[in-house]
Amino acid sequence: MRIHWPLGMTAILVAAVGATAATHHAPMKAKASTNAKQIAAGKALISKDQCNGCHSADLKGKPGFSPSIRWSSLSKTYNEKTFARVMDTGVTQSGSMVKKPMPVYHLKAAESAALVAYLKTQK
Ligand code: HEC
Repeated sequence: MRIHWPLGMTAILVAAVGATAATHHAPMKAKASTNAKQIAAGKALISKDQCNGCHSADLKGKPGFSPSIRWSSLSKTYNEKTFARVMDTGVTQSGSMVKKPMPVYHLKAAESAALVAYLKTQK
């Protein structure tokens, strides 16, 4: 008789139930607190790197000098990946280098993700 079959099925069921429980509960909580942490980290980066100095206190940019970096504006041309790229390497969404005096910050992916999380709160 194939006595291993029911055991195998049990293992699969236990694994499936475990995975379902995990996706429905734990990660939701983790995501919410990660997001709050990201927003706080993003806000801290904005003031540390003085983005406001050039992009204005409300981050809406300075006419004739710098663009709005609120996510509602940036997301017209940038996505999270191209934003991370410009903040790391200075390569804009169109593939050209960002112009001075915009610094190339060499931000880590996690830092750019934190900035995006914060900029999204600035509608
Ligand atoms: C010394 C002034 C200065 C500082 C500080 C500065 N920026 Fe900029 N930034 C600019 C200018 C000017 C431009 C426009 C450059 C261009 O046209 O290529 C720009 C462009 C950008 C762009 C590209 C927008 C686009 O449409 O391509 C992003 C994104 C950006 N800044 C984000 C930031 C963030 C985030 C910070 C803080 C971490 C920051 N900047 C700090 C001056 C500054």
